[in-house]
Amino acid sequence: MPTPLEAGHVPVLPAETLRLLDPRPGETWVDCTTGGGGHSRLIAEKLGPTGRLFGLDQDRTMLALAEPRLAGLPVTLIPANFDQLAEVLQNLGIEKVDGVLADLGFSSDQLNDADRGLSFKNNGPLDMRLDGRTGATAADLVNTMSEGGLADVIFEYGEERLSRRIAKRIVERRSAKRIETTGELADAVRSCVPRSGGIDPATRTFQALRIAVNDELGALERLLALLPKVVRPGGRVGIISFHSLEDRRVKQAFRGSPHWECLTKKPVEAGDDECARNPRARSAKLRVARRV
Ligand SMILES: C[S@@+](CC[C@H](N)C(=O)[O-])C[C@H]1O[C@@H](n2cnc3c(N)ncnc32)[C@H](O)[C@@H]1O
Repeated sequence: MPTPLEAGHVPVLPAETLRLLDPRPGETWVDCTTGGGGHSRLIAEKLGPTGRLFGLDQDRTMLALAEPRLAGLPVTLIPANFDQLAEVLQNLGIEKVDGVLADLGFSSDQLNDADRGLSFKNNGPLDMRLDGRTGATAADLVNTMSEGGLADVIFEYGEERLSRRIAKRIVERRSAKRIETTGELADAVRSCVPRSGGIDPATRTFQALRIAVNDELGALERLLALLPKVVRPGGRVGIISFHSLEDRRVKQAFRGSPHWECLTKKPVEAGDDECARNPRARSAKLRVARRV
């Protein structure tokens, strides 16, 4: 029988994350992206009863899922965007922490929930908001942005070279009928982009819209900028990213910075065994740095 964690999201690079971050008894840690609680659990078990882990997530549904999985551990769950970490710690009366982890993006639980509209594999409303309470949905963007604006988003965040063709097709389709579902968007993209390799032609467009809807790169940049202020000297930070736009920003923030000693010259990637067990791990890149 799978455990509840195995049944849902499986944390990536668990052994490498623990070895490099080295959480110790009595320390105070932040998991910026608690999700299903996989990494939080691994870290909190190392902190013991005198330590504490503050688990953030902008998606309250994920925190509700993580709560029973983390029962009995020294964990406090806080619904917040990680770009608010400085304010969150200030409100808790905490000046500096011993370590921070961010495992970026979305979890398998969110991806598999058709109502979130994150996946082109399940038909559902074209939403994509990780914090489902506020802000524009992917349907809002797709139906209101100019053709040029859409092409720029798909090119920049999806690294999709056929972005202009896709934007044109989206505008054609929406002028006949508002695009409301993931299926309609995926169909529009597939109708003008040839399949290459094993990758669905809609993959890059979906990634682009998700990044735009959630301002994912903006939030990451704000987190990277605030980390030197909230991590004590000797404290460790680990960031797991899933595409080059994120990894580039993490690398730039750690490398050659007066604040950080980079503990990973190259990003740590999953081995064949882990990739076979957990396909999500295939694109994961972990970078770890120690506060100088
Ligand atoms: C890859 S999952 C984390 C999985 C987790 N490490 C585990 O082992 O179960 C990423 C999580 O981060 C959350 N998230 C993404 N961007 C966020 C942000 N800017 N602030 C707070 N949470 C965020 C998502 O809602 C999602 O639950």
